Amino acid sequence: MTKKIYIKTFGCQMNVYDSNRMRDALMVLGYTETQKPESADIILINTCHIREKASEKLFSELGRLNQIKKKNALIVVAGCVVQADGAEILKRSPMIDIALGPQSYHELPQLVTQYNRQKGRKIVAQFPAESKFDSLPEPQKSSANAFLAIQEGCDNFCSYCVVPYTRGCEYSRSSDEIIKEAKQLVKLGAKEIMLLGQNVNCWHGDKGRDLGDLIQDIAKIRGLKRIRYTTSYPSKITQNLIQSHAKVKKLMPYIHIPIQSGSDRVLKAMNRQYTVAEYEKIVNDFRLARPDIAISSDFIVGFPGETEDDFEQTLALVERVKYASSFSFKFSTRPGTPASLMKNQIDEAVKTKRLMKLQKLLLSQQRAFNEATVGKELDVLLTERGKVRGQLLGYSPYMQGTVVRAPISKLGEIVRVKITDATATALSGKIIK
Ligand code: SAH
Ligand code: SF4
Ligand code: F3S
Repeated sequence: MTKKIYIKTFGCQMNVYDSNRMRDALMVLGYTETQKPESADIILINTCHIREKASEKLFSELGRLNQIKKKNALIVVAGCVVQADGAEILKRSPMIDIALGPQSYHELPQLVTQYNRQKGRKIVAQFPAESKFDSLPEPQKSSANAFLAIQEGCDNFCSYCVVPYTRGCEYSRSSDEIIKEAKQLVKLGAKEIMLLGQNVNCWHGDKGRDLGDLIQDIAKIRGLKRIRYTTSYPSKITQNLIQSHAKVKKLMPYIHIPIQSGSDRVLKAMNRQYTVAEYEKIVNDFRLARPDIAISSDFIVGFPGETEDDFEQTLALVERVKYASSFSFKFSTRPGTPASLMKNQIDEAVKTKRLMKLQKLLLSQQRAFNEATVGKELDVLLTERGKVRGQLLGYSPYMQGTVVRAPISKLGEIVRVKITDATATALSGKIIK
């Protein structure tokens, strides 16, 4: 009987990509993926450390799995919590067999085959000299919308953020390696590729080539229909990248460009390397290159020292930019970061109030953006089954989740859809022949 692996992923898209690559590495060993933890021989939990309660999520997941898992299932915990707190989590949960940091995933096959419970549990969380990307096998499976990591790590050290500590310093994969993997994904059925990086636009190749150049190369791959990328750091955006949105048809009209706060004073305390005015100029340049582009962002409210006036400036910025979608969070103190030691921490109740106010505004903009597409015809890449039988779910060029009635045979296809309804979070429509 083939051995099975069950994977549970928390955190960002990079973690989803990593989980896929670990799955691929085990598929080479003969494992198949299962959605049922109770039938798995290996249970892999890929963790995130970005905000509080990250370890709590891990332990509640372990508790749940402990009730249902096979007796001898191997428990592997991977991801950013391991890099930050590996020894601590092994101590707290005797259930964990192997703990693996984000830079060590290529060691998983060997760890699994050589694992011996009697000899003790293992934690691997170094920043090794060789890159995990060089040692992982090529993708074995792909969805219609595939992820491809081109850059990893961060050198920016925003004062609130753990990523530079959990993912290490910036690293760009070579163009050749990326193109090879992109072709492989297309061969496996990918119609869309989302290029990933903690700061994806910090990617650089030989001879000063940047993300815009890479996108133009990837666009030449036959069979690939759509290209996306995320997450972009505002001050590192080049004109070449912006102009790619005007030149490359396959590049989707959507840009995620986190600002965090609309107050220059707060941005400075966050150690973000741009001003609000510089950010708005970039947004404007994107709109000049591609007038219909959807703009999305991340926000943090309640950063230490954030006054009512600072917060009002964030609301005012949102009013000016008009976002198509967004993610917003309460500031969360992370151990080891400069912001966690700042004296003027904001009261939890104030954070909650500000978050609710900001989210209300952002959601109304998202609704307006979605409603403006009613009556239009959009190309939708169908990626999943819908909740209701006979329905499929996909994404518009602007990243709007879109529900249509369609036979299952259309899964993985791009269809032309007339949008008939919109809510703040989704569209629905009819396929036109
Ligand atoms: N590299 C990206 C962001 C990666 S982290 C960038 O700089 O834009 C994803 C998002 O998590 C961030 O944009 C931020 O909004 C949020 N985040 C990170 N650390 C946080 C913290 N300590 N508290 C609250 N939100 C945080
Ligand atoms: Fe974190 Fe800042 Fe790096 Fe983004 S740029 S990953 S927020 S340190
Ligand atoms: Fe979380 Fe690590 Fe991603 S902390 S957001 S999984 S880089």
